[in-house]
Amino acid sequence: MNIKEILKTMDYGTAPESQTTAQDWLQQSPFGHFINNQWLKGSNHFNSVNPASGETLAQISQADKAMINKAVKAAEQATPKWQALSGHDRAKYLYALARLIQKNSRILSVLETLDNGKPIRESRDIDIPLAARHFYHHAGWAQLLDSELPDHQALGVVGQVIPWNFPFLMLAWKIAPAIATGNTVVLKPAEQTSLTALYFAELCQQANLPEGVVNIVTGDGRVGEAIVNHKDIQKIAFTGSTAVGRKIRQATAGSGKKLSLELGGKSAFIVCEDADLDAAVEGVVDAIWFNQGEVCCAGSRLLIQESVAERFEQKLQERMSKLRIGDPLDKSTDVGAIINKEQHQKITDMVNTGVKQGARILQSPCELPKAGYFYPPTLLADVAPGDLVVQEEIFGPVLVGMTFRTPAEAVALANNSRYGLAATIWSENINLALHLAPQMQAGVVWINCANQFDAAAGFGGVKESGFGREGGFEGLFEYLKPGDDFIAKKASQKSAKASGKRTATDAMDRTTKMYIGGKQVRPDGGYSYPVLDAKGNTLTQAGLGNRKDVRNAVEAAANSGQWSKMTAYQRQQVMYFLAENLNLRIDEFIDRLKDFGHSASAAKKEVELSIERLNYYAAWCDKFDGRVHAVPMRAVAMAMHEPIGVIGIACPAENPLLSFVSLMAPALAMGNRVVMLADEAFPLPALDLYQVLNTSDVPAGTVNILSGRHEDMLKTLAGHLNLDALWYFGDQAGATLVEQESALNLKRTWTHIEPKDWCSKQAQGKTFLRMSVEVKNIWTPYGE
Ligand code: NAI
Repeated sequence: MNIKEILKTMDYGTAPESQTTAQDWLQQSPFGHFINNQWLKGSNHFNSVNPASGETLAQISQADKAMINKAVKAAEQATPKWQALSGHDRAKYLYALARLIQKNSRILSVLETLDNGKPIRESRDIDIPLAARHFYHHAGWAQLLDSELPDHQALGVVGQVIPWNFPFLMLAWKIAPAIATGNTVVLKPAEQTSLTALYFAELCQQANLPEGVVNIVTGDGRVGEAIVNHKDIQKIAFTGSTAVGRKIRQATAGSGKKLSLELGGKSAFIVCEDADLDAAVEGVVDAIWFNQGEVCCAGSRLLIQESVAERFEQKLQERMSKLRIGDPLDKSTDVGAIINKEQHQKITDMVNTGVKQGARILQSPCELPKAGYFYPPTLLADVAPGDLVVQEEIFGPVLVGMTFRTPAEAVALANNSRYGLAATIWSENINLALHLAPQMQAGVVWINCANQFDAAAGFGGVKESGFGREGGFEGLFEYLKPGDDFIAKKASQKSAKASGKRTATDAMDRTTKMYIGGKQVRPDGGYSYPVLDAKGNTLTQAGLGNRKDVRNAVEAAANSGQWSKMTAYQRQQVMYFLAENLNLRIDEFIDRLKDFGHSASAAKKEVELSIERLNYYAAWCDKFDGRVHAVPMRAVAMAMHEPIGVIGIACPAENPLLSFVSLMAPALAMGNRVVMLADEAFPLPALDLYQVLNTSDVPAGTVNILSGRHEDMLKTLAGHLNLDALWYFGDQAGATLVEQESALNLKRTWTHIEPKDWCSKQAQGKTFLRMSVEVKNIWTPYGE
């Protein structure tokens, strides 16, 4: 075609990026593993394939057990020196890595596109620059850590397992915060996309990173499993499917490993009738056709207000017809190749199911390349909320569409999902958008924008999308532990277990009742157990809570939203009132604690400290607030602290009143409702608190108190789908059970097995508040 003809048709010409340099680098295949800054020869090689052509790019090694052990050992040996470096010195290495990524950005982009199939426009303009940004940002945190978080320590060796959809970006999200905070790393890239991780290993050599700080081993899920199960690893950070995330939760249960999971999603994309529809259409393109829709937070559920639905669909269809699908290396390609045959088949099957269930299908009318795995941008309209394609992650360029009438209906539809990663709201009315954003059950909300990410803003989900945050100040805590744990020097005075035989209903009249939904209740099973005083004499009976009682308590908490809707100021006043009312009954509580075996002075101290702690957390109600992150676009990313929802708390054997208050108060201060399992052996001060709660304007259902054997109730509590988090203070068997059973809905857990000194200053503080909130990042662009 000559220039005149081109000008006449105005057709796009091809503009492929050169792959010569990347292909030259690939000549060193077959690849080995990167341990102690050296390449170790690999074995059991498999092919890494270009999904756009089906051609083999390189051979990658499947690490065996011995290789994984070597990597963990190298990381372990590197830990003391790396932690001993000043933050400034660690920062210099992160700066060096950031600069090296920038200098090598072209080859990294091409390798990423060859290996993953994503358009070069995206790897060049998004994945690689954002990866560099993560190293720059966390270099800053390394520098500032000593002054900003002086009471925190690194964890040690961190195992990191990442997926194939953002291979290099996920590596940066994982490695940058881990090494900035003084940890060392064993990372496994996805078996489909290991190339840029191997290239990064060379950058670590060039940056003269100390040996063993970053180790990279390759292979499939079996390598991931071996890392997850390795006894010398202190933390696992995983991004990938919810199914594997659940397995990892179970595998690490009881191991003491810290865990963060960034899993699947089915995020809502809400278009209100007052939205700028043309802008919203571009938003949809960014939400679901970015990276072929292989994005965990893809806006894959389109919810359009009925009054504009027809107009919006027309505009969307027109835009779909203009999307260019094809060679990912072509700079004008919008949608590249699907990662592999299996994923392509999964997408095809899901769409076929959707159509069979009655969906109306609209697809980009494009000609797909003959080789490779391509799938056209697709909209499945007129679907129903319960359809498989609406509930399950498709992980491809497929959008499902529904309509809503009122904003309240949009919220209900958006939250009708087991996932909770992200949500997008499109409206020109900022009041409406900011009214909807806090109601979204999601870790990230984008207002009038989609799929925005930055190192300064935390990212992560709620519900079955996992737990933990990556990026931002909030993300640092995933790689740190409080340095001043309040482990008690001497063992607790009391046995942790409820003693004595259970007694049938004849003893009911003498039974101290439980407290559910604002009412005193008898145990469902009609059984009680004797509560003994310090000398072993029966003081009274307490109800033996069972599964039904647990369910009733969780339901009461779940259905009583009032406390969570109150302002921080309102909660604060109620908590001050609570402290005041406890103070009025100080003598009764002192007497109770004397029965427990406390001396008069110890009992007085415990009650006084409990009152002080209620005041302490009342004070924090309106002060433990979020941040506005400085993201590099004209937007504010508001990191809001939101209540988690309903928290179950199994109280420890020490200080039966003080430990109860120390755990209940921060959760309440941040707006949660709680289901408390009182100290097994001596639940009386906790059960007596109902009187104080009743007279202090705490709404019914906000605090629910159960007594009985923790082992009888924990399984139901940990597995309950309406419980959002579970804190456990007890023994190893209980901690393991809690973490294992929590895998069902992937609730957040916080487990402790050492006896604690509840009278110490460290038994209160920001760690407790942090465990009581979810950080939701709400992005709002501004400007003309
Ligand atoms: P996957 O979750 O199996 O793989 C992610 C990573 O985990 C890979 O590095 C893999 O080798 C590793 N892995 C697999 N089994 C493991 C185990 N038992 N223990 C430790 N590590 C393990 O995801 P896959 O099979 O590649 O894709 C399946 C589906 O998962 C996709 O269709 C998509 O729906 C979803 N997915 C979601 C992602 C997300 O970011 N939310 C990313 C990738 C996939």
